[in-house]
Amino acid sequence: MENIAVEKEAVESRSDSTGQQINMRFVTLVAIVAALGGLLFGFDTAAVSGAIGFMKIRFGLNQVEVGWAVSCLIVGCIFGAAGAGGISDKFGRKKVLYAGAVLYLIGSVGAALSPSFSAYVIARLVSGLGIGITATLAPLYNAEIAPAKYRGRLVALNQVAIVSGILLVYFLNLFIAGLGDDAWDISTAWRWMFGVGAVPSILFIILLFFVPESPRWLIKQGRPADSLPILLRIHGEELARKEVLDIKASFNEKQATMREMLSDRGLRAILIVGIVVALTQQITGINAVMYYAPEIFKAAGAGTDASLLQTILVGLINLVFTLVSIWLIDKVGRKALVLVGSSMMTISLAVIGIAFHTGHTAGPLVMIFILLYVASFAISLGTAVWVLLSEIFPNRIRGIATAIANMALWAANYVVTQAFPPLLNTIGSAPTFWIFGAMGLFTFLFMWRVVPETKGKSLEEIESIWIKADRA
Ligand code: GLC
Repeated sequence: MENIAVEKEAVESRSDSTGQQINMRFVTLVAIVAALGGLLFGFDTAAVSGAIGFMKIRFGLNQVEVGWAVSCLIVGCIFGAAGAGGISDKFGRKKVLYAGAVLYLIGSVGAALSPSFSAYVIARLVSGLGIGITATLAPLYNAEIAPAKYRGRLVALNQVAIVSGILLVYFLNLFIAGLGDDAWDISTAWRWMFGVGAVPSILFIILLFFVPESPRWLIKQGRPADSLPILLRIHGEELARKEVLDIKASFNEKQATMREMLSDRGLRAILIVGIVVALTQQITGINAVMYYAPEIFKAAGAGTDASLLQTILVGLINLVFTLVSIWLIDKVGRKALVLVGSSMMTISLAVIGIAFHTGHTAGPLVMIFILLYVASFAISLGTAVWVLLSEIFPNRIRGIATAIANMALWAANYVVTQAFPPLLNTIGSAPTFWIFGAMGLFTFLFMWRVVPETKGKSLEEIESIWIKADRA
């Protein structure tokens, strides 16, 4: 206890709205570490985009195999996300985060060394398991450790990490591809593109060493005494003791099993809301733009170099507006951001569709509205969906419900990514963007009518909103 008190004094602390001291340096450090899980996610998303062209030649892949080379990771993610909640409920958030990072490490090295296409696919499935786990648990862990006032911001770090991972690898790929000649690229460069993924996973494993277990999980395990020192480091004496009591009280109700969750009308409704929230982030088409941006710009008439530059711009805008959303999310709230963002996304998608429909694609019109669309996504759904998913579920179903919602998010990512190229070829660009636009409108209405504002409320207070709604 003594050294905790000393440490408490030694670090900067800040008062929250109740006048309590919050050790922001500690909390931020912990959250950054956990958010590295997001970096692995972004890192990997972009790695395959750089490697695929070379692998196609190296393994002589046909179109179907190319699709599989990209998407097998996402299949792994779906399973990783599905298992993460339940397994971490049992073994602890920290241990399972470790497991995720180790799986990712094995997968990166495995993909880099793979002697055949099947070996590569297996390695990617393993990486996917790791990413599904870390991408699900990192925001969950952050939400469980953050003081209510800063929770949105800390959870949102996850999205900054994802977006930074995407940008980082984009530059790394360019660098690696620039190192040798074509023959080197085909035999070796693509292996490095996967192999470098080992670096962030090792870093993640080392840093995890320094973070504590989630205090909420410890209390759930009937170990409030172990959670108190951690809460003391975060909140200071008085609030820490209150937190323990609040969290304990919220666990007095029995933990729901899957069957109980599905047969309870209230819990089922919350689960469905969570799943739809997760889906909105993907069905509005962001990854069609993230993965296929150069193709879209080419379809609008840009040359190869220009389309590459425009793609970098997309990545940068994504990062800048993600940072803006972090700044805003605990100030204006999740709901306000999502409502503004989804309406801007809808308008942008409608205009892009019109541009393709009327053939007005020459000039900067498509480019401007794609950037507006990405910026609107980044300030809203990009960040807010992760934040909402980490906080809208009641304590006793959080692990399992978060996992199901994440699984839905990954499945939707898979469907949209797979469906986009055939949609462009069959129904054409304009209707495809209009479909995404219609999803944007749906997102606006759904968030407006159904999802409660969660800004500044403790996880236990959010839980009570649902209970009231159910009684009403
Ligand atoms: C969100 C999405 C992810 C997407 C990224 C783009 O993190 O979950 O699929 O690639 O935003 O910024």
